[in-house]
Amino acid sequence: MARELRLPIRTKRLHIREFLATDFDSVYQYSNHPKVTRYLFFGPRDADATTEYLQDLLVSQKERPRTRFELAVQEIASGRVIGACDLSLIEAHVVDLGYMLGIEHWGQGYATEIALKLLEAAFNDLAATQVIATVDINNKASIQVLEKIGMRWEATFRKHRRLKNRWWDCHLFGLPREVWDASRTSATHSTHNSHTA
Ligand SMILES: CC(C)(COP(=O)(O)OP(=O)(O)OC[C@H]1O[C@@H](n2cnc3c(N)ncnc32)[C@H](O)[C@@H]1OP(=O)(O)O)[C@@H](O)C(=O)NCCC(=O)NCCS
Repeated sequence: MARELRLPIRTKRLHIREFLATDFDSVYQYSNHPKVTRYLFFGPRDADATTEYLQDLLVSQKERPRTRFELAVQEIASGRVIGACDLSLIEAHVVDLGYMLGIEHWGQGYATEIALKLLEAAFNDLAATQVIATVDINNKASIQVLEKIGMRWEATFRKHRRLKNRWWDCHLFGLPREVWDASRTSATHSTHNSHTA
């Protein structure tokens, strides 16, 4: 079965689309900040690392079958690219999701808005049977986002990776398709019931 991610994805306030070579300045701006990359395995990215990253992902857009969807997050109101999000097929039907935003855009519910749409896309377009995310155990904001979108803690990996001169302890969060399907069905039922009550 051909699986295609339908792009762009629109949320209420955001436009999630393919990156363009012309996004360099925006990417550099948000990913050069040490607080933004504190809990990410890479970064902060300097200009060379940003060039390499963008070149790499532009190549990945042409791969078939495509397994990596690294996408730009554009704020509709300002037209600015304020961050990135991604879906990666790590196994045939297991999709890993992630997100990052420029620091001035934190705390407005944007990551939750993005992650909910990524879940939908992973299950509907990429036919995922399981969506997962890995998060540093100290990354409270991201853990909160994962919990808000219905993902559940599955495991903790002590010394998961050694990068940036330290060991990383990480939580694995997951959402099986059956649980997601059940949550859709109960949401539809409660909407229906509230209309008929
Ligand atoms: C993680 C990140 C994407 C969150 O983005 P965001 O748009 O601010 O997230 P949201 O506003 O949708 O939700 C954040 C939630 O975390 C909570 N939160 C934020 N900081 C927190 C902290 N230190 N402790 C506990 N909760 C915290 C917020 O209150 C909010 O929860 P609420 O809606 O229940 O109040 C953003 O902080 C970021 O880009 N971080 C750097 C990159 C990164 O770490 N990405 C994740 C890799 S796994």
